[in-house]
Parts: sequence; C-alpha cells; structure tokens
Amino acid sequence: MAQEDIFKKLIAHCKEYGYVFQSSEIYDGLSAVYDYGQNGVELKNNIKKYWWDSMVLLHENIVGLDSAIFMHPTIWKASGHVDAFNDPLIDNKDSKKRYRADILIEEQLAKFEEKMNKEVAKAAKRFGDAFDEKQFRKTNPRVLANQKKYDELHTRFAKALNDNNLEELKQIIIDQGIVCPVSGSRNWTDVRQFNLMFSTEMGSTAEGASTIFLRPETAQGIFVNYLNVQKTGRMKIPFGIAQIGKAFRNEIVARQFIFRMREFEQMEMQFFVRPGTELNWFEKWKNIRMEWHRALGFGDDKYRFHEHEKLAHYANAAVDVEFKFPFGFKEVEGIHSRTDFDLSQHQQHSGKKIQYFDPELNKSYVPYVVETSIGVDRMFLQVISASYCEEEIENNGKKDTRVVLKIPPFLAPVKLAVMPLVKKDGLPEIARKIIDSLKFDFNCRYDEKDSIGKRYRRQDAIGTPFCVTVDHQTTEDNTVTVRYRDTMKQERVATDKLGEIISRQVSFKGVFEKL
Ligand code: GAP
Repeated sequence: MAQEDIFKKLIAHCKEYGYVFQSSEIYDGLSAVYDYGQNGVELKNNIKKYWWDSMVLLHENIVGLDSAIFMHPTIWKASGHVDAFNDPLIDNKDSKKRYRADILIEEQLAKFEEKMNKEVAKAAKRFGDAFDEKQFRKTNPRVLANQKKYDELHTRFAKALNDNNLEELKQIIIDQGIVCPVSGSRNWTDVRQFNLMFSTEMGSTAEGASTIFLRPETAQGIFVNYLNVQKTGRMKIPFGIAQIGKAFRNEIVARQFIFRMREFEQMEMQFFVRPGTELNWFEKWKNIRMEWHRALGFGDDKYRFHEHEKLAHYANAAVDVEFKFPFGFKEVEGIHSRTDFDLSQHQQHSGKKIQYFDPELNKSYVPYVVETSIGVDRMFLQVISASYCEEEIENNGKKDTRVVLKIPPFLAPVKLAVMPLVKKDGLPEIARKIIDSLKFDFNCRYDEKDSIGKRYRRQDAIGTPFCVTVDHQTTEDNTVTVRYRDTMKQERVATDKLGEIISRQVSFKGVFEKL
C-alpha cells in the first residue's frame, strides 16, 4: 500500500479509536489544532513520563520546572524572536495557496534522495547478499547524476538561507520548476518573511493594555529562571533544567496532521555548561537522545541525524533527529548548542547579572547552553506511525485481517482488558474483582460486549498489550487466559500471577535500563 494511503488510514484510525480529534470539530474544525481523546491523552502522558523520567530521574544534575506561558514581552525582544522568528512564505497566484519557500525546496531535495534510494533498492533486490551499497552509490551513473543535482541544489539553498536572500529562494523555486501542488502552475509571488508569534492583550484597555506573546518555545521560561533554580537548588555546572509545556506558532503551512500544529507541546532541556566545553556536551547529548529514541525498538534504520542548512540566530551547532514517517524522514527533535546567547541577551535587557561563579576556575562567567528540544505531538505521531500494522490472520480456519497498534507496552494507553466470557454465572463479578486488584498499578478496561474475537480486535486497534479472559474454569481453579497482543498467543495463568506478568512488560524500568 502507498505510504500516503497508510497515513490517511492512520489519521482515520486515530479518530475512530479515541486518539486524536480535530479541534472544534462540530464547528467544522480549526485548522492545525487538535484535541487528544481518551486513549490519546494516556499515550501522551506516557510519552511525557518517558521523557521526564529519563531526564529528571536518571540524571542527578537535571531538575524540572513549570514556567508560565505568559511572559514579559521584553523576553521575546531579548531572545531575538520579535526580529528573527520568521518563515519565508510564498503564494501561488493561481491557487491562492500559501507555502513555506524553504519547505518547497526541501521537498525538491527529498525527491532527488528518493530517486537515489529507489535505484539502490532495485539493485539490492537484484544482487541479493552480494550487494555492496557503498560501492553502488559511488559508481552507478543514475545515482551519481541525482547526487550531483542534490549537492548543487543543497549548496545553493543553504547559501540563500544563510544570506537571508529571499530573491534567491524564489529564483531557486523557478529554476527547479517547482509547481504548486494545487494549481500545478509556476505563477509565484515574491518570497516574504512572516513572524510566527501569536500575540494577545494583557490588562484592560482603560488601564493601558500591553501586547504580550504566546510563547513559541518553552526554552525562554527556563533561561529567565536560570538564576532562581541555580541558587535555590545550589546547582553546580554542568546542570540541566527540564520543562514540558505548550508552545504556539502561527504556522504558514500547517499540514500532515499533528506534525505541524499551531498549538503544540514541547519537552525541552537546557543544559548549562562551562564555556568552551559546549561542543563536547553537544556530541554527548546527540548520542543520549538518539539512544532514547532507539530504545523504543522501532528499528535503528528509522532514525537519522540531519545537519541544519542554516543555524538559528542563537546557535553554533545544531542537528535534528529525524524519524521516517509515512511521508518521509522528518524532524522530531532538535539538539542545539545555543552558546551564551540567551543568557547574555537577558542579562543585557533585564540589567540583572546572570552569571555563575565557578569555584574550580575561581571566576564568574555566563554559562553556555546545550538544548535538547522535542515535540510531544511529533513523538506521538512517531509512536503511532511505527506501531500501526495491518495483518492477515487466520480466524477459525478462515483468512481475516486485523489492525493492531503495536505500541511499546510501557507506552500503551490501556495495559489490559478484562473480559468475562459470558455476562452471567458470576464471571462479570470475577472480572470486576480482577480489575479492582490491578487498577492501582495499571490502566484497565472492562469489556463484556460482543464475541471474544470482536473484543480482541477492539483491543488490538487500541494497542492494549494484554487481554484477560475469565471463563467457567476460573470459577473452579482461579486461572484465566492471557492473550498477548503482538503474537496473539494465549496462556493459562493463575489470577494472582497477573500483576507480576503485566508489570514485567509494562514497566518503564525495563526501557530505562537500556539507556
Ligand atoms: N527551543 C528550540 C526550538 O523550539 P524547534 O526546532 O523550533 O526548536 C523543537 O522546535 C521541536 O518542537 C521540533 O523538533 C518539533 O518536534 C517541535 N515543533 C516545532 N514546531 C512544531 C509545530 N508547529 N507543531 C508540532 N511540533 C512542533
């Protein structure tokens, strides 16, 4: 099935099974804003716990913070967001659709990459085990021709971005023959800069309201609390501050479901280090973060690093962790070496000294910062995309299909469903008792409607790792059937062993030990 079709199915699945709903749906929706349903919110909370604990529990020198969304407007002047938090936009005059010029060019680059990958995949199939991919990429004329086109475009694009040359961005779009996906035409406007921050008024007009911004990143809340946390926590450099919270961006192109939203959530950690050590820490955090992603077990080939074409105004090094979504490799996380830019700017604009006295060096300095920044929603999309499977199965000797979300059990919204085989003979009461004994540790569901087969399908579609069936034998020997989501294997176990079996597989500890 084409990846695009899979993605459409996945979006429909998220709605049908209470994961993600379009915001304000009964009013025809609000573009690029989404709500998380009864299962979505559980998955989201588990993702946040995975991140939070891996930062704050596993690192003695990282502490948490929850700063306000509303902040003093000068913060955004100091951080550079008022002047430089822009995206280059371009309109197609025929369709009247608006695009990000940089994304149109990135998509063109991805096309060259895709062509090369197709050649490689074809050759790999032809040559089997004897295939040497490196050698093939170095010598195959079609791959080399596309690589040349890719490199030339990439160099030109990176230069245009770094020079902030909007005319050149437009020229690249024209020279590459990029067409509007809606009208199919090349009738483009000039490229203009567009600031992404939302603003609102604080205070009544009579008092003299002031314009404030909805934060476009949570990081600034950490920077302006650096002194508070360092002093009250008696933190010694190197140390980090972690925060999870909402961020808002007036995205020009809001497509691909929850990948690019106007209201979203970030999990950010700012790590304060001694000047001159930041690039070592940058490398360390790159590796730590990649391991965190890989520990989910979706396959190492699903991830890659991507160097930035243009460094943000605050960074001296930056890399993205990209995940292979059904629509291609895309950014899920950014790791940035932010120098002392933010703290120095806040020192200057606030007039407050923001420094650290380093007892080992016997001097004070403005710390340098390495940041790891990941979107909760993109992580959510990563988990759902990697977990969604359509499988052919045997059902009573007949061919059948099932849709199953193979979410890693520790992230799954519901850990177990308890099902009485029939709604009588005391079986529902036993099922309820089992839930009562397990509900303090696991999110349990009770399900007595329809045949057992249908109930299994329903739980597969939600991604519930364990289904526990109570039958007549249970009344005799206190055993139940446990059915495992991924293998569909069933085994008979003693009721009092359930907690142990489930906790072994759903505990966060298991995955943390891999990190
Ligand atoms: N503090 C640095 C920062 O905000 P960023 O690369 O702009 O860096 C970090 O954003 C992460 O936030 C991204 O890797 C992505 O996962 C998430 N993110 C950014 N914009 C988003 C949007 N419009 N919708 C959903 N997630 C977004």
